[in-house]
Amino acid sequence: MADAAVPPSAPDFPQPGDRLPAANPSPETLSFLARRRSAAAAALTAPGPDAEQLNTLLRIAARVPDHGKLAPWRFMIFEDEAKERFAAICEKIYAARTPGAEAGQVQMERDRLLNPPVIIAVVSSVLENHKIPEWEQILSAGAACMTLLNAANAMGFAGQWRTDWMAYDPQVKDMMGLRSGERVAGFIYLGTAPEDPVERKRPDPQIGAWKG
Ligand SMILES: Cc1cc2nc3c(=O)[nH]c(=O)nc-3n(C[C@H](O)[C@H](O)[C@H](O)COP(=O)(O)O)c2cc1C
Repeated sequence: MADAAVPPSAPDFPQPGDRLPAANPSPETLSFLARRRSAAAAALTAPGPDAEQLNTLLRIAARVPDHGKLAPWRFMIFEDEAKERFAAICEKIYAARTPGAEAGQVQMERDRLLNPPVIIAVVSSVLENHKIPEWEQILSAGAACMTLLNAANAMGFAGQWRTDWMAYDPQVKDMMGLRSGERVAGFIYLGTAPEDPVERKRPDPQIGAWKG
């Protein structure tokens, strides 16, 4: 029985050693996954997750499969004044690298960073020359991104996983304090969508079936 004082956003996290269901039938989760949809980051507004909700989201994201138990990722939260500072520096870098940028494009860049109340950078932190291949460590960071987005949707927030130019820009990475072996797996933009997104065309999953 859930404690009445625990807010609905705080799920029941297990302790090491707890026995957990290997299968967890949940038609609601299946429907959630079948109907999940990203929302355009630039249009997101408040409310976004508060500190406690963010803590829950990151604890969930940190439960992804992880070969070697290396935790080969870390999370960086951008909100409030820090997000504004980050956006201002990105805008300067963007202006320098895109001198002929049209006003509309510059505004779009600004909106994407300033409108969503919370941005979480998921940083892939690869342990180099480790027996666990780098590729597998990177995949775990991707899983953290997707889990974070799904968990945020399930908590009632809209979101989008993006990289854009910033994930690859040396100056931005430097400003974020990324070390050797670190890459931005994604910026996860979270908030509230002004309207529900429309479904897009989806690929046929049969395309990859082995015909041997
Ligand atoms: C690693 C990664 C990086 C992405 N970067 C961008 C991006 O920079 N810009 C963008 O519009 N979508 C980007 N996307 C796609 C969006 O996350 C999203 O899939 C897209 O908006 C379609 O919505 P859907 O998730 O409902 O299919 C990226 C996806 C992944 C997996």
